[in-house]
Amino acid sequence: MIRRVQSAEQPILQTWATQPYQLADGRTINLIQSAVENRLFVADYPLLQDLKVTDLQLGRYVGSPVALFYRSEQGLEPVLIQVEKGKVVTPAISGGNADDWTRAKLYVQTADVTYHELLTHLCYTHLAMEAFAIATPRQLPRNHPLYRLLYPHFQFLLAINTRGNTVLLGEEGAIGKLMAPTREASLGLINRAYRQRSFAEYSLLNDIKRRGIEPEFISEFPYRDDALLLWEAIANYTTRYLQRYYPSDQAVQQDPYLRAWAAELGAPLDSRPKSEFPQAPDWLPKEWVLAAGLEPQELPSYPRMPGFGEITSLQQLIDIATLIIFTCGPQHAAVNFSQFDYVTYVPNAPLALYSRPDAPATLEELLPSTKQDLGQMQLTFSLSGIYWGQLGSSELIQFVEQGDRQILKQFQNELVEIESKIKARNRLRVVDTGIEYPYLLPSHIPNSINI
Ligand SMILES: [Fe+2]
Repeated sequence: MIRRVQSAEQPILQTWATQPYQLADGRTINLIQSAVENRLFVADYPLLQDLKVTDLQLGRYVGSPVALFYRSEQGLEPVLIQVEKGKVVTPAISGGNADDWTRAKLYVQTADVTYHELLTHLCYTHLAMEAFAIATPRQLPRNHPLYRLLYPHFQFLLAINTRGNTVLLGEEGAIGKLMAPTREASLGLINRAYRQRSFAEYSLLNDIKRRGIEPEFISEFPYRDDALLLWEAIANYTTRYLQRYYPSDQAVQQDPYLRAWAAELGAPLDSRPKSEFPQAPDWLPKEWVLAAGLEPQELPSYPRMPGFGEITSLQQLIDIATLIIFTCGPQHAAVNFSQFDYVTYVPNAPLALYSRPDAPATLEELLPSTKQDLGQMQLTFSLSGIYWGQLGSSELIQFVEQGDRQILKQFQNELVEIESKIKARNRLRVVDTGIEYPYLLPSHIPNSINI
């Protein structure tokens, strides 16, 4: 995940600043000075640092590398890769060995795709939104305005997550077969990441701020630029809609259903009465209970959605609804449908490497086998290939009220405008860089997380 280097990160920069670094145009840069000028960007994966040797499957490897970039007039240029503590590799232009550089890039790509699949995709969209897909029908009546606004965005989420439990996380699943961390370690990582990320961090606006990737620091950023258009359109939609039902902050505070919804999301599962969970009757033989998955589970003691508190104002409710619709629609589309382009060609983003950085290996030894390649291609092809139900579609969002239907129509019109804006941007992107960014075209965004 790329972010701008902050001034507080001077100590790590000083450890790297013992040698000069050269850019493609021949200029030499000073790291400390470049950070002060807000020109340094870093891709790092601190959560992967927690993985111990015993957390990795035998013969497979993923580390926690750091890739440093310099923002020049041409865009981001790689400066160095810290493959592991004490091992820094530079591109050939800075005197590095070309083979070492290729290997170093693979360590970064594998960490990146591991982080992307387990956390950015699975944890921060599929699993985080599951909390809302469950709490909404449990706490809000079907004719509640918030239920009607949000529920179409949860269609088939529980079904795909249940399928993911087998296909990805199961004993014979893709994580165990293709990725470096063991299934248990992957689950541990997902759990820790889930607990550490508070609800506010899922907001696109907060994410841009936290990562320091505002336009004044990096002018070209297709995900950010297209996502902001969608965020704004969704915010307009939720504002118009919710204002119809909540004339004041007081009206929000006085809604008992909203209070119950927020309370359930902010509370840990283990604070609920046992009767709310499946119970096997006493007379059922033990092995049947186990086979049916009805054995008592240890319930999490952290909030269902960390950082989710009381809702006290209309604006807060609007922000919550915007965040949820954005995550179920555009955010999931951006991280899901890009998998084919970036991950199906295995040497670009191997789901595991087969040698550690301290052992010099040929590319053939480092990369997955043909059988693993096929598994990775099959998985990412199918995850990126199924589009169902377009964002804002009247077939999926069926409001009864005429006023609500008008608001939906306005949203649909804004999406049509965004479609042509992004198409125009893509034409320029192809001219500038040869690469377009099609993932946030509204016509490519499903209404819910269903794959
Ligand atoms: Fe997905």
